Amino acid sequence: MGLSVEGEVARDIGGRPIEVISTGAALGAEVRGVDLKDLDISQFAALTRAWHDHQVILLRGQTLGDRDLIAFSRRFGDLDWAPVQETGRRFVEGLPEIYIVSNVTVNGQPIGSLGAGEAAWHTDMSYLDVPPMASMLYALEVPPSGGNTSFCSMYAIYQALPENLKRRIANLKIKHDGTYNSGGYLRQGVTATDDPRTSPGALHPLVCIHPDTGRRMLYLGRRRNAYLMGLELADSEALLDELWDFVARPAFTWEHVWRVGDLVLWDNRCTMHRRDPFDASARRIMHRTQIKGSAAPA
Ligand code: OGA
Ligand code: MN
Repeated sequence: MGLSVEGEVARDIGGRPIEVISTGAALGAEVRGVDLKDLDISQFAALTRAWHDHQVILLRGQTLGDRDLIAFSRRFGDLDWAPVQETGRRFVEGLPEIYIVSNVTVNGQPIGSLGAGEAAWHTDMSYLDVPPMASMLYALEVPPSGGNTSFCSMYAIYQALPENLKRRIANLKIKHDGTYNSGGYLRQGVTATDDPRTSPGALHPLVCIHPDTGRRMLYLGRRRNAYLMGLELADSEALLDELWDFVARPAFTWEHVWRVGDLVLWDNRCTMHRRDPFDASARRIMHRTQIKGSAAPA
């Protein structure tokens, strides 16, 4: 009983069909024919499978309030509380799961994080011992241009590494920095530092096995203040640069141009993402949830 057939309408007995359309890039697929407020069990199973297969899925034309976003997110598991925003507040009163990504200000105070600048390649909250397994962003307001979000496949990047490089990194651990967020802002309660050897963060294997797909992937987290444990700083920097050289290659990425009502769900273990800057006088408002990981990366 196949639940989802690539490029075709998938039916399950008694269930409603969903359609999975690959982006044609190294990762990403659009799933059509679903309302996330009203998703039956077979649709949810098909959606989960599409997500495992494609790492990032896009659902357009959704109409979700924060409680709907949380309810859909909870179908995947317990949620992490959002990181504290750059202003020190948690944003949505009574809903600590919601993280707001926005440049909009009200009474001079930003309503969210990351401003209008570039967000460098990263994966979310990997400075935790058990990072979220997934994050999703829901678009409430988008600027007329700019602010596109790109994703890269850490499976494809690992596969593309030369064999000798794979051997050199096989048993290394990497520190994922907890000092700065992807917009370059200092996290709450942390002292600024640019020494990766002493900055706070979590240690993870540099090469991990995805717990659901069994596939091998590179786990880089983010470049700033990353550190390969046990190496001289200069050697760590050089090897990290060698690995990061693979990250932004178009062969491993997919870029999303947002419309209001888009929901993008990414696998936070086997992908990274970045965001283009946009005109600071335009408005962009995204709400995010993050689903707890089941175990430390291994
Ligand atoms: C995030 C993030 C990028 C964007 O919410 O984790 O990195 O496009 N957002 O807003
Ligand atoms: Mn992010």
